[in-house]
Amino acid sequence: MEKVHQRSVNFSKTTITELMIPSYANFGGKIHGGILLSLMDKVAFASSSKHAGAYCVTVSVDRVDFLQPVEVGDLVHLNASINYVGNTSLVVGIKVIAENVKLGLVKHTNTSFFTMVAKGDDNKPMVVPELVLESEIDVKRFVEAIERKELKTLDRNQLKKAKIQFEIHKEIKKLKGERCLIQLTNQ
Ligand SMILES: CC(C)(COP(=O)(O)OP(=O)(O)OC[C@H]1O[C@@H](n2cnc3c(N)ncnc32)[C@H](O)[C@@H]1OP(=O)(O)O)[C@@H](O)C(=O)NCCC(=O)NCCS
Repeated sequence: MEKVHQRSVNFSKTTITELMIPSYANFGGKIHGGILLSLMDKVAFASSSKHAGAYCVTVSVDRVDFLQPVEVGDLVHLNASINYVGNTSLVVGIKVIAENVKLGLVKHTNTSFFTMVAKGDDNKPMVVPELVLESEIDVKRFVEAIERKELKTLDRNQLKKAKIQFEIHKEIKKLKGERCLIQLTNQ
């Protein structure tokens, strides 16, 4: 099969719509967060694999904040598009919308970014086609993904440093006012 070198954002735009049935609900009657996460993973897989022309795996998920509860009976729409491609990785932006068809109400529950990596038949990361940006919004999303990637690297380095430099007698002061009790037994 001929190798594809570029693909547009539109080529792999994907929407999944799913009805929220009672078995998806928690004891409070709202939809489990895990059900939405699973649907987000599916739509990220579909969109990234279509762009790559190969199966992709999930490597990282950036921010999942459920801003509003989803109800049984809602239709949930997950709109996914490729925001960014590296060499073997792709960032899929996913907007989740819950719709109450009876009341005609639509609410935006969250937007998240899934980083996926394409795998070749040898199960190794595989180079993906470049992304053709055809609109200002495509360019904006690509630039924002680069900025998030830079912030994530900074964050990761700072966390690493914080772990290395941890000294209990210095850090313990930060716990003042927190709802914890210090009862050290293993010294
Ligand atoms: C994803 C995976 C192939 C990366 O392997 P690796 O040896 O780190 O490969 P590389 O260092 O070449 O990284 C491959 C790409 O992943 C990206 N990547 C790796 N870790 C990442 C992370 N934590 N966040 C974002 N991107 C990451 C790299 O930046 C690189 O992108 P690029 O090629 O576009 O520059 C490997 O970690 C894996 O198979 N993980 C399991 C994934 C899986 O099975 N997921 C399903 C859920 S269990």
